[in-house]
Amino acid sequence: MEMKTKVSFGDGAGLYLYDNKQTTDVPSTPCTESFIDARVYIQDKPRQEWDNLSTIYFVTPTYPRREQVPELTRLAYTLLHVPRIHWIVANDYNACNPYLDTLLNRFGIPFTHLTSPMPERFRNVKSKPRGVSNRRAAMQWLRQRNITTGVLYFGDDDNTYDLKLFSEIRDTKYVSMFPVGLIASYGISGPVVRKGKVVGFLDSWVAGRRWPVDMAGFAVNLAYMSEYPNASMPFKPGYEEDYFLRSIALTLDKIEPKGNNCTEILVWHTQTKNHAREPVKIDHEYLDNRSNLGALFKALAEMGVSDASDDEGQKAIISSNGKSKPLGYYLS
Ligand code: UGA
Ligand code: MN
Repeated sequence: MEMKTKVSFGDGAGLYLYDNKQTTDVPSTPCTESFIDARVYIQDKPRQEWDNLSTIYFVTPTYPRREQVPELTRLAYTLLHVPRIHWIVANDYNACNPYLDTLLNRFGIPFTHLTSPMPERFRNVKSKPRGVSNRRAAMQWLRQRNITTGVLYFGDDDNTYDLKLFSEIRDTKYVSMFPVGLIASYGISGPVVRKGKVVGFLDSWVAGRRWPVDMAGFAVNLAYMSEYPNASMPFKPGYEEDYFLRSIALTLDKIEPKGNNCTEILVWHTQTKNHAREPVKIDHEYLDNRSNLGALFKALAEMGVSDASDDEGQKAIISSNGKSKPLGYYLS
């Protein structure tokens, strides 16, 4: 028999909890388990063995928002497993963010941090060309450096990448393509492959696009791309991929289907819910070195997560033993 106990807290909130003596008796069956470490992607290879791999230029548009640092952190931990990669992080911001520099340096992945602000004229339009100035800046950087070997991939900061994607795209000769999961109503967007050749595209939004693919659904060989000095991406929401692929004169026969003839999903169009940044009301006199709070709020401000304010926002509540007390209680 289940016993319910009413527990009362000091603030008057009531909560029913199951009798804690019974919690070890929950029905449970073990599913699969393994005590063998079968990880393929532990980096146990000496660096020299990577040297003959072509470099993947992984271009990540990013922009200041609360979720920016967590997204880039998550992505960095994926890229840490990928040999011979150069991470181009193009920030939609008009200045070099020193916090991002420190963060990117810490991972040890070869990287370039670029500023690439969206032109003002697009800032307040409803449908923004997201990530376009960023990707254009990255292409410009590649051109300026005269980098004409390797593979270019546009990897947004909020997607989820299977490590197999990297070994699949690394030998791209012209343009490789593969399905992207979690796109629109089908939950998928990608090439239709017959007898090893791409013959069409499965994507719920055609809209006249010759190449109705997601940004994460293709990779380009840089030697091939450099034959098209006018390669570019338009500031035209929805048509970035299509026009870019047109600008490098793509034809069906040049497309190399990846991921076991486009049957595997190696990249997911995951989207993080964006929350607006709000101030936290906390007296500045408490943000000194008496506690961690000063350093913590300094870091939060630098990361673009939240700001401490003397008179705005939701009041900072500090509690112990289930009771909230004024800050002076802890810090005076
Ligand atoms: C989808 C596609 O996956 C993107 O490749 C495409 O750029 C975008 O639509 C579009 O055409 O607008 P979606 O998830 O809807 O992506 O868009 P976001 O993830 O919000 O933005 C795409 C990329 O641009 C992200 O890496 C994001 O960090 C960056 N971005 C977004 C900016 O740099 N500035 C912004 O104002 C918004
Ligand atoms: Mn996205």
